[in-house]
Amino acid sequence: MEANFMYCTFKGRKSVCPILLSKEQALEGIRRLARQIAADYARAAIHLVIALKGAKTTAGYLAKELDELGMTFQVDGVRVKSYAGTESTGKLNWLQELAEPDLAGKHVLVVEDIIDSGYTLSELLKVLKFRYGKPASIRTVALLDKPSRRRPELKGFKADYTGFEIQDVFVVGFGLDWDEEGRELPNIVYINPEDFINPSTN
Ligand code: XMP
Ligand code: MG
Repeated sequence: MEANFMYCTFKGRKSVCPILLSKEQALEGIRRLARQIAADYARAAIHLVIALKGAKTTAGYLAKELDELGMTFQVDGVRVKSYAGTESTGKLNWLQELAEPDLAGKHVLVVEDIIDSGYTLSELLKVLKFRYGKPASIRTVALLDKPSRRRPELKGFKADYTGFEIQDVFVVGFGLDWDEEGRELPNIVYINPEDFINPSTN
């Protein structure tokens, strides 16, 4: 497999990381998603709910594209966390509620960075359907998806709009983090956590 690499530092250790998607590729994917969304919603106003913090970068570029396509939208966010390190904990912690907790009658579009087991987004959806009033519609967009990682009971669960399906690798960059590190990397790289924790594998 041909891969480009970039230097990245985690846990105070520097290594080379293979680039899964360059920033340009990610942006092209977001542009494609924005065109699909604009076509589907016609002129309806959208209420973007960003799954913070990871989806902030994706949502920022998506909002810019939607704006250029003439869409009307509002932006809000919730902060939920289901991951510790590189593993899902299977529990959704609510760290931040919506700033404007009224979704009644709105066309809600949840923006997520990545779907892995499917737990985070499926649980988030359950809650968004009633906690803040009854939305007129609720759909989801995810930049990345790892379908091979889905929990058995969530097999077939997908976002309404998916940027890229990827293999079972842990990715960082473009807003995605490993324990809060790596969000600022422009490209999406994949990492082997052991390269940074166990020096003998370097
Ligand atoms: P689940 O398993 O609930 O996971 O679908 C979705 C959430 O877990 C985080 N996640 C990742 N974060 N690199 C990351 O930086 C990854 O490869 C990765 N896989 C899952 C992410 O926060 C997402 O919201
Ligand atoms: Mg995360």
